[in-house]
Amino acid sequence: MAAEELAEALRSLAESLRFYQAMGLKDLALTRDYFPTPEEALTRQEQGLQGCPRCKLSQGRTTIVFGSGNPRAELVCIGEAPGADEDAQGKPFVGRAGQLLTKMLEAVGFDRERDCYIGNILKCRPPANRSPEPDEVAACEPFLLAQLGAIQPKVILALGAFAAQTLLRTKEPIGKLRGRVFPLHSMVLIPTFHPAFLLRNPGQEFKRQAWEDLKLARQEYDRLRSR
Ligand code: URA
Repeated sequence: MAAEELAEALRSLAESLRFYQAMGLKDLALTRDYFPTPEEALTRQEQGLQGCPRCKLSQGRTTIVFGSGNPRAELVCIGEAPGADEDAQGKPFVGRAGQLLTKMLEAVGFDRERDCYIGNILKCRPPANRSPEPDEVAACEPFLLAQLGAIQPKVILALGAFAAQTLLRTKEPIGKLRGRVFPLHSMVLIPTFHPAFLLRNPGQEFKRQAWEDLKLARQEYDRLRSR
C-alpha cells in the first residue's frame, strides 16, 4: 500500500472512531477536523471505498452505492441496502421505492437533491435483496457513521425497521419505533416505514402513519434549524 493510501485509510478509520465516540460521548464536530468541507470529506471517503473487499457482498455487486444528495443537507435519509436498480446505477433509492421516497419528501417541502442526503446501512446489494447479515453491517456501518460525521445533519429519517433498529441498537418493531423522536447526540432520529413496505402494503393506515412521520421530521427540522 502506498504511503498516501495508508495515510488516507488511517484518517478514515480515525474519523469513524471519533464519530462512534461522538455518538456516545463527545463532540460530533470532531469528525470534521481532518477535512475542511463536507464535500471534500465525502469525496475522500467515497474514493477510499472504491474496490472495497471488506465483506462478501463485494463479490456480487456491480457498484458501491455510496450515497447521494447535498453534502451540507440537514436531513439525511437512511435505507437498508441498494436494490437491483441502485446496484446498476450506483445511486441510492432510484427504483420504485425511491420514486415514492422522493414524493414523500416533496409532500413536506423537501427537495431530494437540494435538502437531503440519502444513503443506506449497506453500500452493496445483498443477493436477491435478502436481509443484510450482521458481519456485513459490522463491515459497512463505520462508513455510514463517517458520512454522518462529515455531513452532521440535524435530522435522520430512518427508513424501515432495519435502518431504525440498526442505528438505534434496538430490536423494537418499526410499529413501536415510528411516530417518535429519538435524540442522538446533536441530532434527532425519526423512524418511519420503508417506502418499499408502503408499496407492498397500500392500506390507508400505513400511509397515514408515514405522513405523520414525515410531518414530524419536517417539524423537527424546522425547530432545530431555528435554534
Ligand atoms: N431500498 C433501500 O433500502 N435502499 C435503496 O437504496 C433502495 C431500496
